[in-house]
Amino acid sequence: MDKSTESYIIDDQDAGLFRVNRRAFTDPECLQEERRRIFDKCWIYVGHESEVPHAGDYRSRNAAGRPMILVRGDDSVARVLLNTCTHRGAMVCRQNSGNAKTFQCPYHAWTYNSRGQLVGVPGEDSYSDAFKRDDLGLAAPPQVDNYRGFIFACFDPAAESLYDYLAGAREYLDLVADQSELGMKIVAGQQSYSARANWKLLMENSYDGYHGLPTHQRYFSFLSDIGIDFKGNNLGAPVRQKTVDLGNGHAVLEYQSAWGRPIAHWVPPFGEHRKEHFEQLRRRFDDRFGPERARRICETSRNLGIFPNLVINDIMAITVRTFFPVSPDYMEVNAWALAPIEESAADSKLRLDNFLTFLGPGGFATPDDVEMLESCQRGFANREVAWSDISRGMKREHPSITDELQMRAFWRRWNQLMTTPQIRRARKAA
Ligand code: FES
Ligand SMILES: [Fe+2]
Repeated sequence: MDKSTESYIIDDQDAGLFRVNRRAFTDPECLQEERRRIFDKCWIYVGHESEVPHAGDYRSRNAAGRPMILVRGDDSVARVLLNTCTHRGAMVCRQNSGNAKTFQCPYHAWTYNSRGQLVGVPGEDSYSDAFKRDDLGLAAPPQVDNYRGFIFACFDPAAESLYDYLAGAREYLDLVADQSELGMKIVAGQQSYSARANWKLLMENSYDGYHGLPTHQRYFSFLSDIGIDFKGNNLGAPVRQKTVDLGNGHAVLEYQSAWGRPIAHWVPPFGEHRKEHFEQLRRRFDDRFGPERARRICETSRNLGIFPNLVINDIMAITVRTFFPVSPDYMEVNAWALAPIEESAADSKLRLDNFLTFLGPGGFATPDDVEMLESCQRGFANREVAWSDISRGMKREHPSITDELQMRAFWRRWNQLMTTPQIRRARKAA
């Protein structure tokens, strides 16, 4: 059998058994296939529209294995341009971020405007009439679209629309975006780090409710120390919590938060003096959405995974996290904090404290998580143990957030794309 069409998973729903072949985490050929079948085919998150608020604002991004520029043109349109000069290939933008009217290639000084059009070619009269500036603007991905401020690109011109691709994940992006009356924004600053582990281990980890207590024990003792009662309301509690397969490989955990949230969910460590302010905020949510949706927005946490590599964890703060493989056992991670545009300085401080305490690369969670992911990757050197088990809760009618339904949703989609490319070709032909 051709290795590339062999299934990477065992998915026996009758028996309640689900396994993933560890070759998926270690094999360089698998990574090559992922580049072709996953990153070149799926909608990939590039950035948030709030990162380029003004004409000429730009951010360099590495997404889907390509250097790109997220830039707002002088026509106010936010675009994604491929960061390679159409002359001989050099990257035309070498800064991480800034504001520019034009991008001038450092190699031979071809110049492009903020819409990506080629506007300057030194010694242009040396070219024949066949040379057309219009043909030589910076290239763009075949599809770019925005859902509620989140900008994605897709390299498959035949792929379904972003709206359809997001499927059930839209409901959860709405619960995030509705936290602001004016729009959400990425808070200035970006966290970039790396891990010696396969990128899919981080996807699994980002919505893995099972590892919370053992891996992050220190955080839970810290919460008790500052007076939060998480025991009566913890991650494993059966009340008000669910894990949902959202379609297309996306999945979410939704649960009642033990911790306070800068969106209208007060807890004692925030201080008595802020209680009234939080109750006021909450009343506004009640007015806008009615009490049930307001409760859901304000009091529940969401760990949302959007296939293949976007995580939005809307917990004690909101992190937007994306990561790409450099090699099978090494990934680069970027993370940002998201917040309502209108949030007050005091609330923003609370949010960022929360963000750094748990979510940041120096917080309680990330170093522990990275250590565990790297440990898994090192463990995979034991090639004799070929499979990982992801069966938890498979026979349960209402899987809990400590089950592994969300990972199975990811892996089924991943395996399908990795082994049956003809599905997508058929759609194109239809
Ligand atoms: S490579 Fe950019 S101008 Fe020559
Ligand atoms: Fe974790």
